[in-house]
Amino acid sequence: MKCDVAKFSLAPKGKKRILWADNDMPVLASIRRRFAKDKPLKGKNVSACLHITAETANLARTLKAGGANVALCASNPLSTQDDVAASLVKDFQVPVFAVCGENRSTYYKHIYAAIDHKPVITFDDGADLVNALHTSRKKDSFRIIASMEETTTGVIRLRALASAGKLRFPVIAVNDAASKHLFDNRYGTGQSTVDGIIRATDLLIAGAKVVVAGYGWCGRGFAMRARGMGAIVIVTEVDSVKAIEAVMDGFEVMPMAQAARAGNLFVTLTGNKNVIRSEHFRAMKDGAIVANSGHFNVEIDIPALKKMSKKVNRSVRNHVDEYVLKNNKRIFLLAQGRLVNLAAAEGHPASVMDMSFATQALEAEYVVKNEGKLAVAVHSVPIEIEQKVCRLKLRSMSIGIDRLTDEQVEYLASSGEGT
Ligand SMILES: NC(=O)c1ccc[n+]([C@@H]2O[C@H](COP(=O)([O-])OP(=O)(O)OC[C@H]3O[C@@H](n4cnc5c(N)ncnc54)[C@H](O)[C@@H]3O)[C@@H](O)[C@H]2O)c1
Repeated sequence: MKCDVAKFSLAPKGKKRILWADNDMPVLASIRRRFAKDKPLKGKNVSACLHITAETANLARTLKAGGANVALCASNPLSTQDDVAASLVKDFQVPVFAVCGENRSTYYKHIYAAIDHKPVITFDDGADLVNALHTSRKKDSFRIIASMEETTTGVIRLRALASAGKLRFPVIAVNDAASKHLFDNRYGTGQSTVDGIIRATDLLIAGAKVVVAGYGWCGRGFAMRARGMGAIVIVTEVDSVKAIEAVMDGFEVMPMAQAARAGNLFVTLTGNKNVIRSEHFRAMKDGAIVANSGHFNVEIDIPALKKMSKKVNRSVRNHVDEYVLKNNKRIFLLAQGRLVNLAAAEGHPASVMDMSFATQALEAEYVVKNEGKLAVAVHSVPIEIEQKVCRLKLRSMSIGIDRLTDEQVEYLASSGEGT
């Protein structure tokens, strides 16, 4: 089997990690059991460009149980769990092309290897694989039945392709499903971003002034968790609706130029570029910590920070680089500005990825059932799939909910009754 992983000797540790995560992924496990019987993906080649984590391994196992031939590559050079990658190859016979810390050229070599697998279905987290199928590897796009996109930034890129009339096959905005972003972006990113920052720095969150750039799904989740641990949270935004929401949720809101002077810790979660720039670094206190949990490493202007610094001390602690400015002020950058929750911690907890990846697996079944019928466009996840995932999750938590009575169904569908 062709593959590229760091070290096969890590496989036993990776297997334990995969099985541990599986304990907290009951919805995906129930889908896997059904897929093993029904084989809805029989004979389909599938390539997934996702963070290579224990949770992704359980998605790959599910797709494979459904009859798919699955290959994986990384969606971020720093997020690969090398032990998981080794176990996927050795214990689960899933070819993986991903090594933690790989450089840009290896990262793309691995994406091309996933395309050489001749997929008819692809999964992306950030649209790098789909982007390759629209640029350097256009010739391989004709086979694609549909492609699934996991994150906000990827969906934005795909919508841009669609509105430029350049999209070559149907894509599904899995990120936009309520069963995904309401839980994964908010509770997953919220908790794991705090986790990554603590593992990297050992910072006491209580009493720290934490500046959160972006009050979308991820920013809201992180702000909520940081406050829960006693931080004084300041939010920066560009959208007035989100800004008012943050104010009414009880956070201080101000422009970054002002927040830069106040903060001890800065975290970007915007999906935008150069949100923290040279003028902000200049205003920061000595010892300020800067991290990103948005998809790409462009939210913090790292080239500007480098230019302003007389010295960069790499890895003063694992995942921490110290930038010493010309006036001797120090700024600590975490995880080279890449997703701090995946680079310095383990990404989202398995329980939340259970819902995201259950949605992905059911969506794969759906696109195969609807092969040739989906328009070349960005599609939403059908509401039935969202409802099913949430129903199964509630059941796995032994939580029941009420049902509409016949009278209520009729009342909600009528306009007759009023004051
Ligand atoms: N770390 C992870 O594991 C993880 C998980 C899910 C999503 N993401 C990524 O996180 C990013 C945010 O995702 P989301 O779902 O919260 O998106 P979102 O669209 O819900 O929120 C982004 C927010 O950032 C704001 N924003 C944009 N530019 C800004 C600027 N210059 N200053 C301040 N605010 C600004 C927007 O107004 C918006 O409210 C995306 O890149 C997404 O792909 C990361």
